Amino acid sequence: MYETILYEVKDQIAYITINRPKALNALNSTVLTELIDAAAKVEADPDVRVAIVTGEGRAFVAGADISQMRDMETMEAKDFMALGHKAFNAIDFNKKPFIAAVNGFALGGGCELSMACDFRIASEKAKFGQPEVNLGIIPGFGGTQRLPRLVGKGMAKYMIYTAEMIDAAEALRIGLVQKVVPAEELMAEAEKAAKLIISKAPIAILTAKAAINYGYDMDMHSASEWEALNSGAGFSTEDQKEGMTAFLEKRPAVWKNK
Ligand code: HXC
Repeated sequence: MYETILYEVKDQIAYITINRPKALNALNSTVLTELIDAAAKVEADPDVRVAIVTGEGRAFVAGADISQMRDMETMEAKDFMALGHKAFNAIDFNKKPFIAAVNGFALGGGCELSMACDFRIASEKAKFGQPEVNLGIIPGFGGTQRLPRLVGKGMAKYMIYTAEMIDAAEALRIGLVQKVVPAEELMAEAEKAAKLIISKAPIAILTAKAAINYGYDMDMHSASEWEALNSGAGFSTEDQKEGMTAFLEKRPAVWKNK
């Protein structure tokens, strides 16, 4: 049982809902600690293939908890940032995919949480931004690093320096989100993506995530070798033989996760 998040597993999907709606789901230490635990559960549970992260009420997450942060001194703040990084890396580098279903405000640490997920599906009501400079600080849960990697340096600098809030259509245009749907279709769309992933060869999905994540910051030469090794390793699985045999026999594959 958690205090600040809801965790539920259904049909091989783990639903993680940030549940502090009165504070627009602001991230305090408890939320971050519980997220770390939930991410470990996703990784360890053989019945879970994909996780969906969303927010309760009208926000996804409106940022790190300003009331907790206001009186922090340097070392305490650094520890808080480190906790945020630990939580978001537990998602980003989780062996299983995480989908952000962004239902409303995704600001500061909320935008950073969505960026730690593998991809983002947004409601038309979603709003994104990195408003930290309004508070006299800079992003501290990965925003200065993940945002430029996702949207390019120029747009990341524009968003971080101006603190401008952008709507879902603009987030889609700049590549921050991958799909935008009406609010009432958000969870169905996220589940559709989750079910598509679940229908694929399990080991191939895990290997694709690792190949992309760890290869992304390598030089192209090393990254190519890293991909070749990972792709080659797939040929040691029973599912590779099954996938290719099923194709040639014109029937659906039956995955064994072996
Ligand atoms: C703590 C927050 C909060 C936050 C909202 N609330 N955001 N509490 N931390 N980040 C609380 C409000 O104080 C208020 O509490 C309640 O949620 C509802 O918010 P309102 O402001 O009344 O709602 P509204 O007028 O609709 O405005 C929504 C909003 C605004 C535009 C999202 O709340 C806002 O600007 N929030 C802060 C956004 C932000 O700056 N995020 C970045 C934080 S720094 P009460 O008790 O009054 O009802 C950050 C850094 C991450 O994330 C890394 C560390 C450096």
